[in-house]
Amino acid sequence: MTKKTILDVSVENKRVLVRCDFNVPLDDAGEITDDLRIRAAVPTIQYLLEHGAAVILCSHLGRPKGKIVESLRLDPVAARLSEQLGVTVKKVNEVVGEAAAAAALSMRPGDVLLLENTRFEPGDEKNDPDLSRKLAALADLYVNDAFGAAHRAHASTAGVAAFLPAVSGLLMGREIEVLGKALEAPERPLVVILGGAKISDKIGVIENLLTKADRILIGGGMANTFFAARGYEMGDSLVEQDAISTAADLLARAGSILVLPEDVVLADAFSAQANAKVSLPDKVEPGWRILDIGPKTAELYERLIAGAGTVIWNGPMGVFELEPFAKGTFAVARALAASHAMTIVGGGDSAAAVQESGVADSIGHISTGGGASLEFLEGIELPGVAVLEDK
Ligand code: 3PG
Repeated sequence: MTKKTILDVSVENKRVLVRCDFNVPLDDAGEITDDLRIRAAVPTIQYLLEHGAAVILCSHLGRPKGKIVESLRLDPVAARLSEQLGVTVKKVNEVVGEAAAAAALSMRPGDVLLLENTRFEPGDEKNDPDLSRKLAALADLYVNDAFGAAHRAHASTAGVAAFLPAVSGLLMGREIEVLGKALEAPERPLVVILGGAKISDKIGVIENLLTKADRILIGGGMANTFFAARGYEMGDSLVEQDAISTAADLLARAGSILVLPEDVVLADAFSAQANAKVSLPDKVEPGWRILDIGPKTAELYERLIAGAGTVIWNGPMGVFELEPFAKGTFAVARALAASHAMTIVGGGDSAAAVQESGVADSIGHISTGGGASLEFLEGIELPGVAVLEDK
C-alpha cells in the first residue's frame, strides 16, 4: 500500500474521524441481517482506542438522498458496534451541528462517538466543501476505512481529506493490498469467476482482466447476453439487448480466457415452484428461461478453481435466492472453500452465498466492497483512496 495508514502516524490524544462503511442490510423490523461490515471495522477502531485516540465514526446507510429517513438512522449500528467493541458507542442524531460538535469536543481518549447517517446531509453526495469543513472541524485526523464506499467521491469519503491529515484504516489497507496483489502479482493461474444479472456492470472488469487473468468463468444472467451474442435463442431469459454487440466483441478478443457455461438450468417461470430442466445453452425454447449454470458447468468450474493459484469471485451463478436454482452458486462457494489458492470473494451476493453455504471461514478474503471492489478490478483509482496521504 503506497498510502499512509494509521500505523504510520501518531494518534495519541487525538480526535480521529473514521469514515466506515456501515451500509449494512436491514430487515423490515430494522434489524441488521449481516454485520460483516461492522465486524470488519473493529480492528481499526480497537487499534485507535488502544493507542490513546478518541474515535468519531461516520457512515452512510442506504440512499436517503439528503433527507432524514427514520428507518435509516444509525442507532442499530451503534448498538451492534457497542457489543462488538465491548464499549458504549455514543450516538448523536446529526452529522454536523451543535450537538455533534459538543459531543465531539467533549470526548476523552478511549471514547467512541457515532455521527448520524452522513447521507441525511445533502452535501455528502455532492461532495460539498462546506460539509467537509464542518466534519473536519470535529477532529484532528481523518481515517478512511470505508473500502465499500471508496468509489464514491463524497464529502465524508473524499472531500474531508482536503481539510485534515488523511490516512487509511486497517480494513482499507488490507482490501487494497489483497485485491492489488491478486491483480498485479497473483499466484497463477489467476481464475476469475464473474456472475450476477447484468453484463453491463462488468464490462469494464472483463476488459481489464482480459490482460491479467488466465481464465474468466462466466455465470449468472450475464452469461445470457454472451449466448445471445453467439446467436442462441434465449427464450424468456434476461438478455441485455444493448450489450450484445459489446459481448460479441469481448468474445472475439478473449480467445480461451473467457469460459461460458456448457449447460444451464431452465425454468418455465421465475419461481421456486417452476418446472425445471437441464439444457444446452443453445436449446432454450420459448417460454423457458435460464436461472442457473448446469451440473457439467459446475463440475468444470470446480476443476478450474481447484487448479488455480488465485481465485477472485464476484456475482452469483444463478438465482440462488430460489432454492432449486442455487446449486451452481453453492458449488462455486464450496469449490473456493476447498481450494488451496488465495481466494477472494467480492460483492454482497457472493459474500452472502459464501455465508449461507457455511464456508465463509475457509475463504481467504471476503471483501466488504461490492461496487468498490468491481471498480478496483476495473483498474479505476478509487477517489476515497486517492485523497489519502502518500507514504
Ligand atoms: C455499497 O453497499 O456498495 C456501498 O456502501 C456503497 O453504497 P452506494 O452504492 O449507495 O454508494
